[in-house]
Amino acid sequence: MLRALLLELAKSSRLRRWIISNGTTRRLAQKFVPGEDLSPAIEAARRCNHAGMAASLDHLGENVLNREDAERARRAYTDALDRIAAENLDANISLKLTHLGLDLGDEFCAGQLCIVAQRAAALHNFVRVDMEGSAYTDRTLRIVKQARAETGAVGTVIQAYLYRSGRDIQDLLEAGCRIRLVKGAYKEPSQIAFLRKKDVDANYVKLMKMLLPSGIYHAMATHDPNMIEPTIRFAAEHDITKDKFEFQMLYGIRTDLQSRLVRQGYRVRIYIPFGQDWFPYFMRRLAERPANLLFFAKNLFR
Ligand code: FDA
Repeated sequence: MLRALLLELAKSSRLRRWIISNGTTRRLAQKFVPGEDLSPAIEAARRCNHAGMAASLDHLGENVLNREDAERARRAYTDALDRIAAENLDANISLKLTHLGLDLGDEFCAGQLCIVAQRAAALHNFVRVDMEGSAYTDRTLRIVKQARAETGAVGTVIQAYLYRSGRDIQDLLEAGCRIRLVKGAYKEPSQIAFLRKKDVDANYVKLMKMLLPSGIYHAMATHDPNMIEPTIRFAAEHDITKDKFEFQMLYGIRTDLQSRLVRQGYRVRIYIPFGQDWFPYFMRRLAERPANLLFFAKNLFR
């Protein structure tokens, strides 16, 4: 109930205006978003590298409504790739297709992604296309496969809460695509998605077992020890060595677990969001965990 309410509130432009203009909420959001410009994100990536972890930079934004904003977003991503290369960081980028203009047309968006992917390929880097709400799943997969065929430097995300995900994985594996497996962060109906945590978790483990033996370098993105332990066990039982996959976690979440996995010799990548448009991302993080909402409310009233 609370999760659904917060995900619904994430669409409110009035709440967005209030939250992003309030000094206290801006400070609290820094727990999840290191800053509004590229430089603090680069600094955060450098700290991750020093701590033995890779990074993925995400310039926050989604559902842009005009070409100028979409092209500005594209330039922010190519700038991020250039800066990563110039500073010799172990980092790639993650982006959302609605930020590159998916709502303005598939062809336009595919062209935008291709420019970013070509820059990534030229710099021997990689672009991860995040997965958004189910209204975009088919179009995202189609555009990703097209960009992958052209440059090879693109991978995407599969959400364990969707019933369709097993079929999508098979399809992407045939195309040789690198996949980040997540539970899924959007509000979806029971006709297409598991709603109960235990069903989502069971499907996550099932899909992990499809991914790891594929010989392609995938990412298990979760903070849940009940997903991480079966992954470690399955990899050990099937002689899948620690360099054949990575764990991914979000900036500021379960930093204890991040360091523990590094100490155990696993590859860990931290997803570092930055930018002015942090409100929907921030609301999704609150929705995932009531304790975050409590922390937020307590500090706000204090
Ligand atoms: P779950 O939500 O069951 O939580 C398990 C435990 O993790 C909790 O008990 C708590 O300890 C900790 N935890 C989880 N969330 C927390 C939070 N916000 N604050 C503090 N502790 C928390 N989704 C999507 O739909 N499309 C995408 O492209 C991506 N991309 C993505 C990239 C990366 C690197 C990550 C880690 C996640 C995503 N997600 C995503 C989000 C994902 O779908 C999911 O909503 C979150 O990862 C939370 O799910 P968990 O697997 O962590 O488990």
